[in-house]
Amino acid sequence: MKKQAVIGLMSGTSMDGLDIAYCEFSCIRKRWHFHIRQSETIVYKKEIRERLLQAGNGSALDLANDHHWYGRWQGEQVKKFIVRHKLKPTLISAHGHTLFHQPSKKISWQLGSGASLAAACGIDAVTDFRTTDIALGGQGAPLVPIGDEILFPEYDFCLNLGGFANISYREKKRRLAFDICPVNIVLNELSLLRGKQYDRGGDMARAGVISRVLLDSLNKGSYFRKKGPRSLGKEWVTANVLPLIYRSKASPEDMLSTYTEHISIQIAKHLTGRKPKILLTGGGAWNDFLIERIVHHSGFRIKLPDNTLIAFKEALVFAFLGLLRYRNEINTCRSVTGASRDSIGGGIYSGV
Ligand SMILES: Nc1ncnc2c1ncn2[C@@H]1O[C@H](COP(=O)(O)OP(=O)(O)O)[C@@H](O)[C@H]1O
Ligand SMILES: [Mg+2]
Repeated sequence: MKKQAVIGLMSGTSMDGLDIAYCEFSCIRKRWHFHIRQSETIVYKKEIRERLLQAGNGSALDLANDHHWYGRWQGEQVKKFIVRHKLKPTLISAHGHTLFHQPSKKISWQLGSGASLAAACGIDAVTDFRTTDIALGGQGAPLVPIGDEILFPEYDFCLNLGGFANISYREKKRRLAFDICPVNIVLNELSLLRGKQYDRGGDMARAGVISRVLLDSLNKGSYFRKKGPRSLGKEWVTANVLPLIYRSKASPEDMLSTYTEHISIQIAKHLTGRKPKILLTGGGAWNDFLIERIVHHSGFRIKLPDNTLIAFKEALVFAFLGLLRYRNEINTCRSVTGASRDSIGGGIYSGV
């Protein structure tokens, strides 16, 4: 098979920026291989971040407008990236920016019109990966595990620390995956109390003291008793987690310290086995204090992959899911989403 060049775009709930990864894929004797050839994060300028934060709070007309705006903006970024690095992708695959994720209401909605994206860069684009699965009774999430299964079979656990922590692993020949708990979406919000976008290296958390009362109430959350397919959204954090933290009246450092401990305990519960091989990715991998606490609670050594994979694994996997969609192959796995069947998710918009 000829190498396929696909650009993956990811904008996570941490709101740090748009990740762009130019990836090459080839399938040799039924085994997929990948290479991230070029990658960049376009850090959101204040006005873009604010528009994304506001999107979804206005009228239906505002939403339609923002959908077009963000789709075109992504397409323009792709165009510049391609020129800058002299690239020739056949396809753009964009997750979009999640505004609503409420699977029980059959809603998962990502900002960024595929039509506007494809038109702005003149290349075919795949977007809207979650709705087919939701229509089939699934959570529409997580979608990355099929990428874990196919692209990273040598790992016992794939753990990503973005806005939320998600994990995926094999059990009894099936891939299981779910969101464990909110991570950077909460840590970033607490860091803002000290005027910082995020807690670099976890230094503020390290300087704090754990509040046992708050830690206990966080760990008692009913979500942590759930089993099977489950996923979390921003709405849940706003309604359940932040009020609990703010009610504690602790200092920002103590809140960060306590929340970091909560994350580490929840994650460590799911890391099991004898010297498991753990692929740890997402911006949280650079939070040294958080990693120290996860190592402490799990008792396992964790070797971080290279910085490109830490930052762009999700963009890589979305590039791959888009390629599968383009090839009309299954890219959504019912064993992790809970849908009635596996499916081919995503809509294709022609750019040529
Ligand atoms: N050096 C660092 N120390 C601590 N946290 C970091 C560091 N670098 C990045 N992060 C965290 O990672 C987040 C970005 O992670 P990312 O994987 O892009 O998440 P998402 O997929 O939700 O966008 C940042 O918002 C920040 O919270
Ligand atoms: Mg990000």
